[in-house]
Amino acid sequence: MNEVMNAILTRRSIRKFTADPIPAEVLEDLVKAALHAPSGMGKQTWQFTVVTNQEIIHRLCGLIGTELGREGYDMYGPAAVIIPSNEKESPWGKEDNACAMENIFLAARSYGVGSVWINQMQNINDRPAVRALLDEIGVPADHVIYGVAALGYADPSVPVEPKERTGKVVYVK
Ligand SMILES: Cc1cc2nc3c(=O)[nH]c(=O)nc-3n(C[C@H](O)[C@H](O)[C@H](O)COP(=O)(O)O)c2cc1C
Repeated sequence: MNEVMNAILTRRSIRKFTADPIPAEVLEDLVKAALHAPSGMGKQTWQFTVVTNQEIIHRLCGLIGTELGREGYDMYGPAAVIIPSNEKESPWGKEDNACAMENIFLAARSYGVGSVWINQMQNINDRPAVRALLDEIGVPADHVIYGVAALGYADPSVPVEPKERTGKVVYVK
């Protein structure tokens, strides 16, 4: 099996991270992988905001918790998050960002870094307290966030087993 297939077939969502930091050069490669994702008409109207500052990550988690009534929400304690955002008016922003997210996940897997899609920002982008933090970290005011990539090394105390794949496949020959 080649490396790409191995990363695809062994990636799983990780829901408990260790506190170990991710090396900067690995994070740079994850961003490179994101930038090489396909985008509608090649417009690349996205931005990738990479946050390793734990205080900012904790504040973001706290805001999600407050806005969504989920006390103690912690995004599973990531060492870093990559926040893809895209122009609100982009017709393909959601699709473009989803492609970038999967590239990040697979590249992360290839480096032994765990990942999970965090969906909680979708509906709270424009809440004033959230927007204020997004302004602070440089997410453009005309951008929307669909998913956040939470990243870190998997905590071995939570075993991650292969998951059976049951989607229907039809071959028409
Ligand atoms: C659009 C989307 C939203 C998701 N949102 C969350 C989320 O908010 N929290 C979470 O723990 N996992 C989230 N996931 C991860 C899925 O639950 C996970 O991919 C699925 O259960 C399959 O497991 P696997 O990723 O280990 O293959 C999301 C995945 C997608 C594609």
